[in-house]
Amino acid sequence: MENRVIIGGQWGDEGKGKIVDSLSRKVDWVIRFQGGANAGHTIYVGDQKHVLHLVPSGILHEGVLGFLGGGMVVDPWSLRDEILALEQKDISVRDRLLVSATAHLVMPFHKRLDELRESRLKRKSIGTTGRGIGPAYLDKVQRTGLRMGDLLLPRENLERKAIEKILTANEVLCQFYEADPVPAKVLAEELVVLAQFLAPMIVNPYEALRPVRDGIASALFEGAQGTLLDVDHGTFPFVTSSNSTIGGVLTGTGLPPRSLGEIIGIFKAYCTRVGNGPFMSELLGDQGDQLRDAGGEYGATTGRARRCGWFDLVAARYAADINGMTGVIITKLDVLDKMSTVRVATGYDLDGEELTTYPVLSEALPRCKPIFRDFPGWEKPTSECRRLTDLPANARKYLEFLEQELGVHIQGISVGKEREAMIWTETGVST
Ligand code: IMP
Repeated sequence: MENRVIIGGQWGDEGKGKIVDSLSRKVDWVIRFQGGANAGHTIYVGDQKHVLHLVPSGILHEGVLGFLGGGMVVDPWSLRDEILALEQKDISVRDRLLVSATAHLVMPFHKRLDELRESRLKRKSIGTTGRGIGPAYLDKVQRTGLRMGDLLLPRENLERKAIEKILTANEVLCQFYEADPVPAKVLAEELVVLAQFLAPMIVNPYEALRPVRDGIASALFEGAQGTLLDVDHGTFPFVTSSNSTIGGVLTGTGLPPRSLGEIIGIFKAYCTRVGNGPFMSELLGDQGDQLRDAGGEYGATTGRARRCGWFDLVAARYAADINGMTGVIITKLDVLDKMSTVRVATGYDLDGEELTTYPVLSEALPRCKPIFRDFPGWEKPTSECRRLTDLPANARKYLEFLEQELGVHIQGISVGKEREAMIWTETGVST
């Protein structure tokens, strides 16, 4: 079976969780490679709703192994709670989940620093999820962070090392932010207890992923966030702190390029963004509210109302190109069912000049005004459609246009939140 990478094509929240769940039924491994508990992947199985932040979505299938790669930043408190919450629903993951010893730890002081930095930035804030992601990656690149492997140290050594890191963080908290320190001894002791819980899952990634590297075991790589939130390729500085694009799979797992297989981009049939930063095809006012209500666009991690807008083809083409997408899946098509007109941003007006390629530089993006092309809506329900031919003609025309303009086959269309609400295509949607 060919491996697959699932990458968000927009600003995250494209519905990757459901797609990973669908595509991971028969794989051996589902592997996260970047990000942390800032992700919120929602999956509906029967009447049950699961929101996963760290544990890969594919783990909901019995027998599938989950892996948290070294490119991640893992909050051990959240990870334990997520594992226990799944166990309460009779989904046992402890024996099927492995964590790379090289993944960095998100500590409570990272979350505190995240909040304080955001409030100091005031109107210029990024609008982070408050999960300590930026400060944890900062500790990684400045080579001061704690790693999962440290949880395997003898108790006294771990406690000593943790206290040392916490005291250094407290200097920043107290002296720079004039905030209260976090309790070093208490947190270090909690970490020792967490270490006992998590230790059996912590592994050497080079050894653990050998079957995937050797092509003996199949893998699905579960991206979090999306292309436009990538620290290098996104709308900097309004981005997350990791590589959510294709390169992150390699650095975040230590696997070679030949292990990647198909690269599938997930795009919502429209666009959303949480947090601040440029959003070229954003809909403000009533129309934005209408889309938000129809799509239930509230963050799975923070509950924040998402900003909503039309499909941005300029940004989508950029995402398809830089990731080398070999296939695309469109999600939440049914959300547009009641719209009389559906619009697509096919270009940007930048200071009077028409752009059809993504300008990349953040200075230009806020000045880009969308140039829309209108499509007649289909104004019929699509959520029961299971074959391409079940879709209303106008919905097909809309999808055909996206496929042709993206230059990548649409392999699937999600028309509802349930697992089975999917249309799969063999050779794309264009006739
Ligand atoms: P951080 O990753 O918490 O530092 O947040 C940085 C930016 O990425 C903010 O705009 C967040 O709203 C956004 N972000 C982070 N994770 C997600 C996600 O899973 N979905 C959507 N947006 C996200």
